Amino acid sequence: MHFSILGLLGASLAWTASATPIVQPELQSRATNFNNPVLWQDHPDLDVFRVGDVFYYSSSTFAFSPGAPVLKSYDLVNWTPVSHSVPRLDFASKYNLNSATDRAYVKGIWASSLQYRKSDDTFYWIGCIEGKTYVYTSTNSGAGANNGEVNNWNWSLRATLNKCYYDCGLFFDDNDTVYVAYGNTDIQVAQLSSDARSEVRSQSVYKGSVTIEGSRMYKVNGNYYIFVTRPANEEWVLKASSPFGPYTQRVLVASISGPLSNAGFAHQGGIVGTKDNKWYYMGFMDAYPGGRIPVSAPITWGSDGFPVLTKVNNGWGQTYPTPVETSKTVPGPEREDSFTSSSLSHEWEWNHNPDTSKFTVPASGGGIQLSTATVTNDLFTARNTLTHRILGPKSHGTFRFDISKMADGDRAGAALFRDVAAYIGIYKEGSSARIVMVNNLSLNSDWSTKSTGTIAATGPTLPSGTAEVWLRVQADITPAFSGGATRTTTFLYSVDGGNSWTQLGGGFGMTNTWQFFTGYRFAAFNHATKSLGGSVVLKSFALKKW
Ligand SMILES: *[C@@H]1O[C@H](CO)[C@@H](O)[C@H](O)[C@H]1NC(C)=O
Ligand SMILES: *[C@@H]1O[C@H](CO)[C@@H](O)[C@H](O)[C@H]1NC(C)=O
Ligand SMILES: *[C@@H]1O[C@H](CO)[C@@H](O)[C@H](O)[C@H]1NC(C)=O
Repeated sequence: MHFSILGLLGASLAWTASATPIVQPELQSRATNFNNPVLWQDHPDLDVFRVGDVFYYSSSTFAFSPGAPVLKSYDLVNWTPVSHSVPRLDFASKYNLNSATDRAYVKGIWASSLQYRKSDDTFYWIGCIEGKTYVYTSTNSGAGANNGEVNNWNWSLRATLNKCYYDCGLFFDDNDTVYVAYGNTDIQVAQLSSDARSEVRSQSVYKGSVTIEGSRMYKVNGNYYIFVTRPANEEWVLKASSPFGPYTQRVLVASISGPLSNAGFAHQGGIVGTKDNKWYYMGFMDAYPGGRIPVSAPITWGSDGFPVLTKVNNGWGQTYPTPVETSKTVPGPEREDSFTSSSLSHEWEWNHNPDTSKFTVPASGGGIQLSTATVTNDLFTARNTLTHRILGPKSHGTFRFDISKMADGDRAGAALFRDVAAYIGIYKEGSSARIVMVNNLSLNSDWSTKSTGTIAATGPTLPSGTAEVWLRVQADITPAFSGGATRTTTFLYSVDGGNSWTQLGGGFGMTNTWQFFTGYRFAAFNHATKSLGGSVVLKSFALKKW
């Protein structure tokens, strides 16, 4: 999870970009080949596995809530979020975004692990948060009896261990013994009690000569494997005939070129086998400003028992044969959400834990009502900002707001959210409402607020009685991680129901730095600067490529 600066320098110096055209249909077709990245969204620190016909994928989410999304796929290529392993960040009160000095940016859910256990039909999530390890389980899943399909996700905290399993990988052995591989540089294996509530033993199994971390533990053909990253350039494989070693090491990939230009090297991933025993390695690429996005490649097993990545032109392929031919499918990421269900879809995550008394999603539809939850002039301290991943390389988020119940002093709108942020929004002053574009919101390197933003452009003052305003954030997250280019996002509004659009302000230059970890997101916000009581309704949100 921690990047080594040296590794990053290596990444930017050593990698020669190839100008591969990117073709990424929103839902990849049932063609015989798939394209990398498999899902152009920020889903880092992945853990991937299969239950029956269904592949599952877990990723890290820092201070976004709920945390640790669970994605589902039938072909290892098309993914959709179906759950979150951590329903609420209950680790400390700062996860509630209490004040400008009591918040949890960049803390929370780092590299963690999700696996399914056959013996009790339960999904287990495990992760270290600020010194302690938390185990969440979803019991009675039904997946074992139903070819991998889950009847009912039912996550709850099972255990808190007073020890950090840093960057851990969970593994259930054939005889159901529970192991966790973890650590930074000094890689350890712990055996847990069979209920995963306590540690039985733990020992060092491999000491790296350089920083290694991000463990994933497996057993394939009778051998034990621990995959680790040498951040941010390489993936190593440790192999042993017993869980506690001794382990021998080989490099799976080191500074491998492709499949995306101006991104880092694919690393920190895991492996998964299909039903017909074809194996794949999935890692992520640092693809800022968009975050860290997953890429996949087949592996074969060498006669020495170590995996070998299938390369194309000595690099990571932009396309490979589709892992699983199946007619089963999942919804693609380009969709409109009109909030017609009483719970939010798993596409959404709040910035920190929400104040649940300040929003409602009526089952009857009509949109999500966002009441102001904080009095502040600082978006980074306002509760109940609702975020959505951007789809790369270029997509826009269209937010349809009803602003008729905004109160004097309220600020609501559509943000491009990160540590350096901008938005288009409505400032309500007295009985008048004007549209503004605000940029230059930023955090310091200790994640305190540096700037609450500057009004860069002012649009029309809306006639009193205006109910609907449509806002659009049009983002370009084409990777610019090592290329130095600045990608720009533009902000637009429509006051005629989305027929005609007007850009407000200039293009906003996005930061390509990695230190905040999470890439840019679309976000809806509503906060007060004078007093609580006002509200907006987000009637719909649409994600679409451009
Ligand atoms: C949900 O999980 C809890 C805690 O593990 C368990 O007691 C309960 O039976 C589960 N409910 C269902 C419907 O699976
Ligand atoms: C499970 O398998 C491991 C690896 O072979 C072994 O060390 C351990 O003793 C076994 N546990 C039980 C309960 O059989
Ligand atoms: C951005 O915010 C900083 C900190 O408040 C301020 O010093 C700077 O002048 C602002 N820049 C612009 C272009 O408004």
